[in-house]
Amino acid sequence: MQIFLLHCTFVDDDGLIREGARVSLELIDKIKHDFEQQLGSAKSYEEFVAIKNSFLAKKGIIAGLLEQMRALPAQERPEFGKAVNLLKDFCQQQIDQQENQLTIQFFTQKNRQERSLDITARPTSEKFAGNLHVSSKFLRRIEEIFISMGFRIFDGPEVETDFYNFGALNIPQDHPARDMYDTLWLDKPGHLLRTHTSTIQIRAIKEFGVPLAGIAPGRVFRHEATDATHEIVFSQCEGLLIDKNISLSHLIGVAKVFLAEFFATKNLDIRIRPGFFPFVEPGLEIDVRCVFCKHGCSICKQTTWIEVFPGGMVHPNVLKAAGVDASEYSGFAFGFGMDRLAMLMHAIDDVRLFRSGDVRFLKQF
Ligand code: DAH
Repeated sequence: MQIFLLHCTFVDDDGLIREGARVSLELIDKIKHDFEQQLGSAKSYEEFVAIKNSFLAKKGIIAGLLEQMRALPAQERPEFGKAVNLLKDFCQQQIDQQENQLTIQFFTQKNRQERSLDITARPTSEKFAGNLHVSSKFLRRIEEIFISMGFRIFDGPEVETDFYNFGALNIPQDHPARDMYDTLWLDKPGHLLRTHTSTIQIRAIKEFGVPLAGIAPGRVFRHEATDATHEIVFSQCEGLLIDKNISLSHLIGVAKVFLAEFFATKNLDIRIRPGFFPFVEPGLEIDVRCVFCKHGCSICKQTTWIEVFPGGMVHPNVLKAAGVDASEYSGFAFGFGMDRLAMLMHAIDDVRLFRSGDVRFLKQF
């Protein structure tokens, strides 16, 4: 067997790397044997990678052999080079063949031990987990609070008729209050996209009769120029309670409980003012302190108060339109903007963000 003398770092008989070791074709065989043995007895993925690196990495054993070839006499280089290249190809093939299988095997083992890793999962560096839209979260929260107070959930159509959106709500044809609602009328005469969820008042009473208590959250539509506080599509939540001997104090009590629960505080700063809506009498507005400023800003129109909860006692004409005897029953109604409440809660200063689909916004909730 031919002997090469190399002034190099090399693997000795006992498997350790030695400076200036003597190297031979026999030793190349031994390296091959060692490689196979080590690979065969690798017990973890880390060990497999360590073996791969120690033989095949840039500064590994095989690269070292090729490096040191230059020190050989020219006539000996071809044979030695060929042997090293064969070794290199062999090792690479073995590694390639086994890498997939070993990766799965080792990670499966690890997974079994740790029960936490899904090795079939694809790399997800560019992805992030989705979550409920902020509006859906608020919707659930609002529903939970009202359900806990004994209210049920009503649902109704978004395409409505003049009757449910206006007429039955004490807003007859040509009533100036219609101007408050920038209505999107449909081609079909007398049909529109509901401008508010108050449409549900008549529908719910007709469907379930009285007494009743429920809320109707949903989308509403207005034909208006959009800005930070106005949107064409936004969400409202209508509330209605009809029974005998219902008074304004019931409405104020429900509003206070709801707002305190919603904002998770016992010291909510609110104020109550008279307000006009044709379908309630008397009507009121409940405001909460502006969360954006201390001394007035554009959101609170320099007042430090934000209107959040309009409502009132259901107008006798509305009860009549729904077929309820107004001398026997009374009730209250309210209708607040759900987006508006979410804005207050999270100090969101632009209502358009809710339907923008902007992931940077949505990721925060
Ligand atoms: N529907 C009204 C609107 O969109 C909000 C509202 C005010 C609803 C007072 C009510 C109420 O039920 O009593 O402007």
